[in-house]
This record gives sequence, C-alpha cells and structure tokens, in this order.
Amino acid sequence: MERIERSCVTVEFDEGIAWVILSRPEKRNAMSPTLNREMLEVLEDLELDERCGIVVLTGAGDSFSAGMDLKEYFRETEKLSPSQVRRVRQTAYAWQWRKLMHYPKPTIAMVNGWCFGGAFTPLVACDLSFAADEAVFGLSEINWGIIPGGNVTKAVADKLRPADALFYIMTGRNFDGRKAAEMGLVNESVPRAELRDHVRALAMELMGKNLTVMNGAKIAFKQVRTMSWDASEDYLGSKAAQVRAQDKSAGRERGLTQFLDDKSYRPGLEGYSKDG
Ligand code: COA
Repeated sequence: MERIERSCVTVEFDEGIAWVILSRPEKRNAMSPTLNREMLEVLEDLELDERCGIVVLTGAGDSFSAGMDLKEYFRETEKLSPSQVRRVRQTAYAWQWRKLMHYPKPTIAMVNGWCFGGAFTPLVACDLSFAADEAVFGLSEINWGIIPGGNVTKAVADKLRPADALFYIMTGRNFDGRKAAEMGLVNESVPRAELRDHVRALAMELMGKNLTVMNGAKIAFKQVRTMSWDASEDYLGSKAAQVRAQDKSAGRERGLTQFLDDKSYRPGLEGYSKDG
C-alpha cells in the first residue's frame, strides 16, 4: 500500500480510498499547530491526487482525536503576537471545516476512539461519519473552563437536537458511539473490530457511483440548507447544468439509454453500467 508519512499525519492509498490518519497516538492525536498545517497541505494535495477518490479521516491508535492540543495550541500560543495567534487559528479552521465542508471528493469520518472538543468540527464537516460502539465522545470544554469555540458549538448546533447539544455542552459528560448514532451525530456505530471493514465497504460502494455527480450533489445539499426555496430552485437548476457539463463520462445519457432503449437496468434499483 502506498503511503505518505508526515510528522503528524499519515496517508494510506487503498484502491481509491485515501485513509488520512491523524498520527500523534502518544498525544491521543490532539491537534497541534503542526498537525493542522500538515492536514491543510494533505487535503490540498489529495484534491488533485488521482490515487484519491474518497477521503476517510481517522486517528492512529485508540483515538480519533482528543481535540485541540491544550499545550501547543492553547498554552504555548499565549506567547505569540495577536497576528501570529490569528494565523495559527486560521490554519486550524481552514482544514477542520472550510476545506472539509466543501471538499470536492466524498469524505467519511471514522471515529475509532476518543473524540473530544475540537475534534467535533472535522467530524461534522465530513459528509458521512461512522463510529466504533466503544468510541468515547465529549464536549469537555466546560471541564477545563472554556466554551466550545473553533466552531464546535456551530457543529453540534447543526447536527444535534438543541436539547442534546445543550445537555452535553453544559455537563461535559461523555457518550459512546451508540449514543452518537442515536442522536444523529454519526450515521452509524458498529463494534470497533468491524469498523474499518464497514467503512471500507461503504467507501467502495460509493466509488462504484459517478463521483463527479456525487460531488455536485453533496455540495448542492450543503448550499441549499441555508437558502430560501426560491433561491434553491434557481441554484439547483444551474448546479445540475454545471455538473452535467463537468461529467465527461456523460453518465446521465448512459443512464437514460440503458433504461429507456437497452432496458438493461432500472435506476430505481441499481446504478447504470459505466462500461455500457
Ligand atoms: N492536548 C494536549 N495533550 C493531550 C491532549 C490534548 N487535548 N489529550 C491528551 N494529551 C496528552 C496528555 O497530556 C498525555 O501527554 P504525556 O504523555 O506527555 O503526559 C498524553 O496525551 C496521553 O494522555 P492521557 O491523559 O495520559 O491518556 P488517557 O488515555 O489516560 O486519557 C483522554 C485520554 C483523551 C481521556 C485524556 O487525555 C484527556 O482528557 N484529554 C483531553 C481531552 C479534552 O478535553 N480535549 C478538548 C480539547 S478542545
């Protein structure tokens, strides 16, 4: 398996899947300024890397991520000038939600273990997410005296019912992968021993679809959520035309021909043949 090793991030290429692994297991994959810089560069590179069809974000060892690095991201940046601090913060936000939220390839978060505070932002910014039943989540900010910043509060406000979001923001209590799935924070939770195979199978299923169209569809979904019905109708019309123009494989035409003329498949039940 081809790999890219950075000091805090590892990428493994596996039949179109890029497993992007936060790799500071000895620090529970806490997100330091170096890790944030590397993640931004890695995601930028993978956008253009043909070995990557889908990104799966996960963590090395027994953690997804213990959140922002309390030492390197908080305490040590107190010595920096305001503009240096702003830069450190912006690099974190740049990958944790801006880049991931609108990433031009499908993204899946695979929460294998500890997931605290700042780690909720990239988790929610990924398109889909799966957790180990045994994973432990927590909005622990209240436990050490800050509010969930770094857009963590926005992330949970987007994903959870207000009652659940406020309960965990205010108590800092932990919950497991099953509870995360029940609340809709992740799509599903499965036993840790099955997690990687489960996510891999889903990623391979997605790879069998038309990824140009899929990327248009997911970006459209994210954009229309904050639009009026009128603006959305107009936007979706233009987006559909844009995606059709971008799809060099002419998927729509293949689908129509195979259903209407060849009668070789039914789109309600399966995908068209990419070879046909
Ligand atoms: N920032 C910086 N360092 C962290 C960290 C974080 N968020 N989370 C863990 N670490 C470091 C510890 O300081 C320790 O470093 P050391 O070996 O140099 O002493 C190492 O990672 C292992 O942590 P430890 O607490 O011994 O591991 P554990 O398995 O017993 O517990 C956690 C794991 C995740 C429960 C615990 O580390 C923890 O509570 N971390 C903070 C989580 C948090 O509140 N994050 C929110 C940040 S926004």
